[in-house]
Amino acid sequence: MANALDKVAVVTGAARGIGRALAVGFAEAGYDVAITDLPSQAQGLAETRATIEARGRKAWVEQMDISRKAEVDAAFGHILDQAGKIDVLVNNAGILKPSLLQDLSEKDWDAHMDVNTKGVLLACQAALPSMRKRKSGRIVNIASIAGRQGVATQGHYAATKAAVITLTRVFAQEVGADGITVNAICPGIILTEMGKNNLGSEEAIRHWEQVTALKRLGQPEDIIGPALFFASDQSAFVTGQALNVCGGIYFH
Ligand SMILES: NC(=O)c1ccc[n+]([C@@H]2O[C@H](COP(=O)([O-])OP(=O)(O)OC[C@H]3O[C@@H](n4cnc5c(N)ncnc54)[C@H](O)[C@@H]3O)[C@@H](O)[C@H]2O)c1
Repeated sequence: MANALDKVAVVTGAARGIGRALAVGFAEAGYDVAITDLPSQAQGLAETRATIEARGRKAWVEQMDISRKAEVDAAFGHILDQAGKIDVLVNNAGILKPSLLQDLSEKDWDAHMDVNTKGVLLACQAALPSMRKRKSGRIVNIASIAGRQGVATQGHYAATKAAVITLTRVFAQEVGADGITVNAICPGIILTEMGKNNLGSEEAIRHWEQVTALKRLGQPEDIIGPALFFASDQSAFVTGQALNVCGGIYFH
C-alpha cells in the first residue's frame, strides 16, 4: 500500500459500483477520501468507509442528493470543514434507466439530466472556489462512451453524458489559469449493477465480450488507474480531454 499523500479526494456515488472502487483505489494510492451518495445508500457508504479506513486512510461520509444544490453545497461545506481542502473531485454519481426516446417520460428525462449533468455542474461549483484559492485541483468526470456514440434505448442517458464531456471541455478552459485540470473518463461496459441491468442477460454479456477487443467486459477496478492518472502530477499538461476506458469497444 502507498504511503499517505496528504491529499483529499472526493468521490460522489461511492456507495457501490465504480464509485466504491474509485474511493478504495484512491485510498490504496494514499489519498484520504470523502465519499457521498444518497441517504438511501447509507449501508453501502458505511461499507465503503470501512474499506477505506482498513487501508489506513481517513474517510468522511456525506449523504446528499447530487441533483439538489442546497444539499450539495452543504455536503461540500462539511467536507471542507473536516478535511480542510479538496485536491481531487471525482464526479461519478449517475443513473441509467433505458427507454426508447419515443416512450421516454418527461420525469425520466428530467431525472437523468438532473443527476448526470446538473449533478456534475453543482459539484464542480461547490468544489472549485476552494481549489481556485489554493491554485490547485483536479476534477475527473465519469462520462460514458454512450456520450460519444449514442446508443438505442439510452438516448436520454447518452445526451447527459455528451453534455458531461462538453462541461469538461468548458470547465477546463475556465479554470486552467488557476492550476486546475478537468478531464473525463468514458467507461465502456462495466459489470456493476448499472452495467448488468443495462445488458439484461448472460447472452448479451457474452455477445459484448466478443465484440470487445480485449474479449472481456470491464470491472469497476478498471477505472481506477485512469482516474489516478488524471488526479496525479503525471497528467499535469492534460486538460479538457475525454479518455475511453472500454477494453476496445469504441475507437473515436
Ligand atoms: N456501469 C457501466 O457500464 C458504466 C458505463 C459508462 C459509464 N458509467 C458511469 O459510471 C458512473 C457509476 O456507475 P455504476 O455503474 O457504478 O452505477 P451504480 O448504479 O452501480 O452506482 C451509481 C451510484 O450513484 C449513486 N447515485 C444515483 N443517483 C444519485 C443522486 N441523485 N445523488 C447521489 N448519488 C446518486 C447511486 O446511489 C449509486 O451508488 C455513472 O456516472 C455511470 O453513468 C457506467
